Amino acid sequence: MSNTPMPVLYQTDLFMPRYDAREGANWFLMVSPFNLGTGYWSGGVINQNLAVLARKAVDGRADTWMSLSAREVESQELGCRAAVGDTVVMGLGMGWAAANAALRPEVTRVTVVEMDPEVIGLIDELAVFSQLPPEAAAKIQVIHGDAMTFTPDRPADTLLADIWLPLNGDERVAQVQTMAANTGAKRVYFWGQEMVIARRARALGVELTTETVARIIDEMGLPLIGPEWTNYPELIALAANRWLQDA
Ligand SMILES: C[S@@+](CC[C@H](N)C(=O)[O-])C[C@H]1O[C@@H](n2cnc3c(N)ncnc32)[C@H](O)[C@@H]1O
Repeated sequence: MSNTPMPVLYQTDLFMPRYDAREGANWFLMVSPFNLGTGYWSGGVINQNLAVLARKAVDGRADTWMSLSAREVESQELGCRAAVGDTVVMGLGMGWAAANAALRPEVTRVTVVEMDPEVIGLIDELAVFSQLPPEAAAKIQVIHGDAMTFTPDRPADTLLADIWLPLNGDERVAQVQTMAANTGAKRVYFWGQEMVIARRARALGVELTTETVARIIDEMGLPLIGPEWTNYPELIALAANRWLQDA
């Protein structure tokens, strides 16, 4: 008999908007009734009614940019759960991170910067933010712009950055440093930051502990959200064991 644990139904207390299937020129949204997957740090899961945002690629393939799977939600949730004040979200995608940030009473304003007008139109058409209580929806403003150059009218309290297709990327820290400098953000969470931390720990040949994680974050020069969770080193290790690529 296999020792592999049975997948469990993925559930979260975070807000999961409803999405209908839609097809645009370059992007489409689909809903899969049942999907088996692996969380970012949780194990095998069943994702039910899984909404997926994909971009059409060459030769009829499609690239999944965002979904409401356990992997995507867990890999952004620490940032959403810690957002405060004036929050800048880089990359609209399905509007999930923006919606969850806006739901926090501690968040006063959510500015979402999205490069692709078709994505902005799709999320508007699907009335994603209209599903929020009016006071949360009123906090959100979507701006058509480039995350790499966007500068807000006043310094941000929180920056949530997620503009990438692959989870692992060499250029990521430099890009986030640029976004952090442009927005003046006091706190930052970026997609895949755990991969960066784990990869650096491997390169240094050190275990992931509170001290080594703090040292690595310090090296990055970014005021990262994460270390306030006492189990952050263990979460990084779990995610890295599943998702870290050395390339
Ligand atoms: C992974 S999705 C974001 C998912 C989002 N965090 C959510 O919770 O639904 C990435 C988004 O970033 C956008 N994007 C990519 N590069 C960008 C850039 N330089 N500036 C602004 N948006 C960008 C993509 O068009 C896409 O909508």
